[in-house]
Amino acid sequence: MISMAESMNGLKRTHRCTELSIANEGEQVTVMGWVQKQRNKGGIVFVDLRDRSGILQIIFEESDCGAESFAKAEKLRSEYVIAVVGCVTKRSGAVNENLKTGNIEVRATSLRILAEAQTPPFPIEADSKTKEDIRLKYRYLDLRRPDIQKNLLLRSKIATEMRSFMAKEGFVEIETPVLCKSTPEGARDYLVPSRVHPGNFYALPQSPQLFKQLLMCSGYDRYFQIARCFRDEDLRADRQPEFTQADMELSFVDVEDVLEVNERLIQHVCREAIGLEVKLPLSRIKWIDAMNRYGSDKPDTRFGMELVDVSDVVAGCGFGVFTGALENGGSVRGLNVKGQAAMPRKKIDALVDMAKGSGAKGLAYLAIEEDGTYKSSFAKFMTPEQLDALVRAMDGEKGDLLLFAADKNTIVWNVLGQLRLELGKQLNLYDPKQFNFLWVVEFPLLEWSEEENRFMAMHHPFTMPMEEDWQYIDSDPGRVRAKAYDIVLNGVELGGGSVRIHQDDIQEKMFEVLGFTKEKAWEQFGFLLSAFQYGVPPHAGLAYGLDRFVMLLVGAENIREVIAFPKVKDASDMMSEAPNVVDEKQLEELGIAIREREE
Ligand code: AMO
Ligand code: AMP
Repeated sequence: MISMAESMNGLKRTHRCTELSIANEGEQVTVMGWVQKQRNKGGIVFVDLRDRSGILQIIFEESDCGAESFAKAEKLRSEYVIAVVGCVTKRSGAVNENLKTGNIEVRATSLRILAEAQTPPFPIEADSKTKEDIRLKYRYLDLRRPDIQKNLLLRSKIATEMRSFMAKEGFVEIETPVLCKSTPEGARDYLVPSRVHPGNFYALPQSPQLFKQLLMCSGYDRYFQIARCFRDEDLRADRQPEFTQADMELSFVDVEDVLEVNERLIQHVCREAIGLEVKLPLSRIKWIDAMNRYGSDKPDTRFGMELVDVSDVVAGCGFGVFTGALENGGSVRGLNVKGQAAMPRKKIDALVDMAKGSGAKGLAYLAIEEDGTYKSSFAKFMTPEQLDALVRAMDGEKGDLLLFAADKNTIVWNVLGQLRLELGKQLNLYDPKQFNFLWVVEFPLLEWSEEENRFMAMHHPFTMPMEEDWQYIDSDPGRVRAKAYDIVLNGVELGGGSVRIHQDDIQEKMFEVLGFTKEKAWEQFGFLLSAFQYGVPPHAGLAYGLDRFVMLLVGAENIREVIAFPKVKDASDMMSEAPNVVDEKQLEELGIAIREREE
């Protein structure tokens, strides 16, 4: 049977739904889209027509559109795809203030049904109450919803604005490979087996890092790319296994040059995409100050409640938890939660559990009651004078709740940093509409890995140390700072980068500290090291997580809301059901046999 659906047959769309306004009154137009809603009032049929621009009301009356079109209009149902020819008129009924086109309607003169549709599994509307797994299974329908469409249109705008800014600044857009060599430093690679070279694998790029450095060696001077990256790591609200970087690299520059052009890029994108005026220069904070004040290398500076180091104040007190931490080289730090002395015990216990969840052995507290007395989990271990001194150090006033963690620095920072964020949210300490951009600079070059029992590069092995610290590389490697920087927005790491090493001797030493033999380094990064022998300019770069940038600018809670076809927590795609089992024949060609996982 021939399909009932009609085709375009010469019909041309003249406008998107909300491109029409009262200025078009009297014009004959052709609009196309999906039926949001049909109401048959007997002798008159109202249709809300939807396209990506929004909604437009269509009116069908037999006297305007003839019997055939009217009969079709009567059988329209939600999500049918239709084409309507008609005349723009002032709305006959009440004006709908909620619609951009609320004061007009189109009186149809003809109707074509381009496609019929089954009833969708959930309503196509903004602020969906539908469970996310259903939405993701039918992502193609979810993507019809106006809030997701708004996010993706803004994403496109942001990418376009980035491209045009970068082009004006002399950056060249160059694509780098997706089938790469595995260089295991950083996150876990996704591997792709080679058919032609049995037993050999490509890796999908975690970033275009090495290629963009090679492009600098090749003289391209300023490179830019919107690049897909792949990392096989545990997913979180702001992480996906494949994500997009807005990636750049520049020659003949130092830290200041990179920050300068990126500040103007951020200003341009925010202005053009969401009309936000970002004041320059952006604030900066050194890594060590970020850790000490906010317990995080990506501080949310929209509110205060900074950490206070009270190690000196509690040294020698009678509380073993505090003094024990200090004896082990750790610290004791506190948060002053203003006005929360009366926080119910249950809520405090929840904070203690949260602290334990982020690695603390416990969380000590002291509430300053309205009568000035203290209620505390550790008062009995300290003299009244010691308690007073501690309260003074914390700027404690009547009604305040003081929380303390004692442990290794890294744990104390992390625990209090997390608590600070949680309390900031619970107590509404910040304006969610505020945008606080912040550079975090002077990161440590190396970070000790308990797991690997060696120093690892905090950023990557090609990051340049700060000249004045290089003297400590043998005696105290942890003390050496790097020419590395992150751009942070409201507590989220938007992007990061560094000045790269372009000197043989520094690079060699770096590999040595990281526990690479010369052979191993050449085996893995030989193509880069070799390129550097033929004349390498000083260079530096940065990459934004584009998904995160969009997520923050549109105010989404989750990165999935700004990615057309995202993956879920176990890295699968609920719609296409990737990953999947493949044919025996495909495996055979690749020389791969599947082994049962040993328990
Ligand atoms: P880095 O590893 O810091 O640096 O990555 C840059 C930015 O990419 C984003 N990002 C992610 N976004 C979503 N999901 C993920 N799994 C994910 N992982 C990272 C973050 C991050 O700031 N080549 C260097 C950059 C350079 O030195 O020039 C790099 O990849 O927003
Ligand atoms: P305890 O003597 O073990 O009952 O601990 C007394 C108080 O100290 C309790 O409130 C614990 O939660 C808290 N506490 C235990 N370990 C730590 C720690 N590492 N840092 C801060 N407080 C702790």
